[in-house]
Amino acid sequence: MELQLHASWFLHFLQDPCFSLLLFSSSLVFSLLLLYLLKLNKPWCNCEICHAYLTSSWTNEFENLCDWYAHLLKNSPGRTIHIHVLGNTITANPDNVEYMLKTRFENFPKGKSFSVILGDFLGRGIFNVDGDLWRFQKKMASLELNRYSMRSYALEIVNDEIKTRLLPLLSKKKDGVLDLQDLFRRFSFDCICRFSFGLDPRCLELSLPMSEFAVSFDLASKLSAERAMTVSPLVWKIKRMLNLGSERKLRKAISMINILAEEVIRQKRKMGFSTHKDLLSRFMSFVNDEIYLRDIIISFLLAGRDTVASALTSFFWLLANHPDVESALRQEADRVVGADRELTSFEQLRELHYFQAAVYESMRLYPPIQFDSKFCQEDDVLPDGTFVRRGTRVTYHPYAMGRVEEIWGSDCLEFKPERWLKDGVFFPENPFKYPVFQAGLRVCLGKDMALVELKTVAFSLLRRFHIDLAKPSRTPRFSPGLTASFSGGIPVLVRER
Ligand code: HEM
Repeated sequence: MELQLHASWFLHFLQDPCFSLLLFSSSLVFSLLLLYLLKLNKPWCNCEICHAYLTSSWTNEFENLCDWYAHLLKNSPGRTIHIHVLGNTITANPDNVEYMLKTRFENFPKGKSFSVILGDFLGRGIFNVDGDLWRFQKKMASLELNRYSMRSYALEIVNDEIKTRLLPLLSKKKDGVLDLQDLFRRFSFDCICRFSFGLDPRCLELSLPMSEFAVSFDLASKLSAERAMTVSPLVWKIKRMLNLGSERKLRKAISMINILAEEVIRQKRKMGFSTHKDLLSRFMSFVNDEIYLRDIIISFLLAGRDTVASALTSFFWLLANHPDVESALRQEADRVVGADRELTSFEQLRELHYFQAAVYESMRLYPPIQFDSKFCQEDDVLPDGTFVRRGTRVTYHPYAMGRVEEIWGSDCLEFKPERWLKDGVFFPENPFKYPVFQAGLRVCLGKDMALVELKTVAFSLLRRFHIDLAKPSRTPRFSPGLTASFSGGIPVLVRER
């Protein structure tokens, strides 16, 4: 996942009272800034792109940074651009994506810069490591997640969460305005915690306060992401050393997560974990180290929570703007499952080709992870001829790729599920043209579970409700963060059908 650097970094830096005070009172400030400038590939670059980036002049024309990047990439001949001041090469060229994620995988790891930033929160979890630690967890996780029993367990949890919480809540709130994004975040957190830990934070029960675990988890991911926005890693490292400001809050949130995770692991050991179905219990058969177990599970929570919520949010936002697609989905639901029947099996889910196409199409235009970076280990040349110096950050950009005519045709900006169907049957695209779940060796391990969640929620909500935007909008505005989220949520009006 990408930690987004923004041109307003200097303001962030100045606005932090604790740190400004500390720095301005000592000559450290000069050496820090000097170090930062030396770290940049070309801090003085005045090319058109870097100038627009540094002065934020791109905001005159574009709502979101990703839209500006998409525009630049679309108009660059090789579909690759350079933000020199960030030392970042960004590509929307499928051949380059295949090269970095598969052909030369070993030369494009996540790298140290990324893992240091998320290290306190994610430890040695799969999301944050390369090499042998990654290989071991990937093997173990793939084995477990591909078991039929694990897939049924996921469907069981999702169906239960929909029936006992999501639907009753929407029925109660009908005719009132509610934020669908917030609801989906609560829903996906409940699902992924139950699946990974066998722990139910009950976030969707709005009558209860958000669980301490969910609050600490949110805070820890937000503050870890914000580390990337500081002027240099030295800034947060010194704050961490002195236990100041946001680093103090982060430490507190992480220690709360650790206490709760350790407690869950202890309880499971006491009760005997071999009969439990959740992922943690399964991993406990292979791993003894409690801290490692905690790290493994926390990565799963991070991977599977906001991504699903983001995908659901943009899916319903698109449907609200495309009633024709909405009614085609309802027709398929009635035809495949029956007008008053519930969705209960994988076989039925597999038959919902138009649902699958609509979900893929929605993520083509609005991928939950809009861009993702690796760090080049040794000098290399991408298939489009771009030279990449060792240490350069190389970013592939699924959001921009969804808007490239060469890949998707002249109607690439239209929401058209039909482009995924051949004679009514869903056909996947080359994953390097559609790296929404990444592709190659580090492809998302929760893809199948995510698709079960997305299709099941879509099916259940469309069956019972009409969902209209309370504030109609044609273009979303995103908040900066690890995963795409709509700034201000999506307030909707819900009516029973
Ligand atoms: C629509 C939902 C989802 C999307 C779009 C998505 C996308 C992605 C992407 C782009 C990556 C690569 C990230 C990186 O390496 O920087 C990834 C990795 C991963 N995802 Fe997902 N994901 C989704 C849901 C899930 C769910 C529900 C789970 C858990 C059950 C999950 C588990 C993982 C794991 C464990 C990895 C790490 C794989 C590795 O490093 O080998 N994901 N996902």
